Amino acid sequence: MKQLTLNGSAGSSDILIAAGLLQTTAAQCARVFSPSRVHIVTDSHVAPLYLDAVAQQFDLPVSSTILPAGEEYKRLEAVEGIYHDMLSAGMTRKDLVIALGGGVTGDVTGFAAATFLRGVPLCQIPTTLLAQVDSSVGGKTAVDLPEGKNLVGAFYQPRLVLIDPTVLETLPDATFIDGMAEVIKYGCIKNRGILDMVRMPHYRENIEELIYECVKIKRDVVEVDEHDTGLRMILNFGHTIGHAIEKIGNYTAHTHGQAVAMGMVAAMKIAQQLGTNNDLDDYLSSLLQEVGLLVDLPYPREAIFKALLSDKKKMGQTVNFILVRSLGRADIEQIDVETLHQMILSI
Ligand code: GLY
Repeated sequence: MKQLTLNGSAGSSDILIAAGLLQTTAAQCARVFSPSRVHIVTDSHVAPLYLDAVAQQFDLPVSSTILPAGEEYKRLEAVEGIYHDMLSAGMTRKDLVIALGGGVTGDVTGFAAATFLRGVPLCQIPTTLLAQVDSSVGGKTAVDLPEGKNLVGAFYQPRLVLIDPTVLETLPDATFIDGMAEVIKYGCIKNRGILDMVRMPHYRENIEELIYECVKIKRDVVEVDEHDTGLRMILNFGHTIGHAIEKIGNYTAHTHGQAVAMGMVAAMKIAQQLGTNNDLDDYLSSLLQEVGLLVDLPYPREAIFKALLSDKKKMGQTVNFILVRSLGRADIEQIDVETLHQMILSI
């Protein structure tokens, strides 16, 4: 078993990575929690696969909420539903909430755990590659509003994260490929060895190692900047344009990973316009396409810029843009909005 500890401002988060870990959920939880009951939140895709397998391990009362699957349900209504289920189950502040699922389940459940009775202990069990390498680790929780993604949330570290790579075998291929965009992101920003591993013909056989390397980067970055005011922004490589693409597609035309893949290649092209003399955009395009991701921008450049501008949460007169000028190293650069506009038009 591989193990990492993230030391956050409000306590530590143990992150365990091992094949078969899901089968030992109750034993792992018993090491760090002392609940009288457990509430598991999952979604309609994951529940038939894993809910009973996890729930039956506990010698405690277990209740559950099954959310409808999909980004469109990452809403306050879902959080309120979880509150009601937890209240009717008799959950108290010392009981345990488990998020069992992908990024949406993790974000919604994390926010419910952060706010129910002003905070109840949380265990994340991510079941998609994207959630395993990124969203389950680091304590970001959020829901969407009609105005945009992740506009309401909290930083709330899970005390325990259980990552079982064998659950990825039950994923649709497209969902696995979606997560590979984030894996490649980590390689670009911090460890080019990850990119070399992904280039190997049978890289999926090394998925546990890849997950570990990605989570290690995330742990290191979050320990330096838990609240996303500086270094943590490098985790957003490819996301500025990626979020614009997701927004234009109404969050349904492209998955997060697909949009981030396109956004990373566009960011490489912008780095070149700023004078970086390399062909990393070609290198990255071919690697992303090898794993099954598309890289060409799917919308007119002006529309992408407008969508990016409307992300008011991030915009002033300058944009914090993440640039990779050599593989394994990211810089945060403030780019003037109009300069960025012109560069996007010439991608
Ligand atoms: N997913 C980016 C972050 O956690 O900061």
